[in-house]
Amino acid sequence: MIKPDAVGQHRVGEILSRLEAAGFVITGLAMRRLSPEQAEDFYAIHRGKEFFPGLVEFITSGPLVAVRLDGENVCRRVRDFIGVTDPAKAAPGTIRADFGVSVRSNAVHASNPEEDVRRELEFFFPEPDITRR
Ligand code: RTP
Ligand code: MG
Repeated sequence: MIKPDAVGQHRVGEILSRLEAAGFVITGLAMRRLSPEQAEDFYAIHRGKEFFPGLVEFITSGPLVAVRLDGENVCRRVRDFIGVTDPAKAAPGTIRADFGVSVRSNAVHASNPEEDVRRELEFFFPEPDITRR
């Protein structure tokens, strides 16, 4: 997911092009603006944490772009590709190192394989994968 900070900075094309250059295949794309209720649902795993209200406020602050990607070991590889949560600690050349500005405004989100990949995909892409037909 390309977060509202990166969308607002007009980085969508650059981030998508880096993903494709790295061999990830885009199988779904959607620009959305989440309501507070949708954001709380999407980030339900963080409900009750001290940063939760700020996270919901940030993620609803503007449009975001949801991206469905295909590829071998895609979840693990995408998380390596985007870098760790804090852009200041992210490895050079990762998306968060290059486009993130703070722990909150960290440009992108990637589904965590230990968390709920399928639920997150269905949240943004309830329809069947049209690239498979
Ligand atoms: P994401 O879910 O967005 O891919 O990020 P992540 O797995 O690297 O980090 P996670 O722990 O799942 O946190 C979700 C998002 O919440 C914001 N956050 N703020 N201490 C803080 O202020 C804090 N901690 C986390 C970040 O935007 C993080 O990406
Ligand atoms: Mg996470």
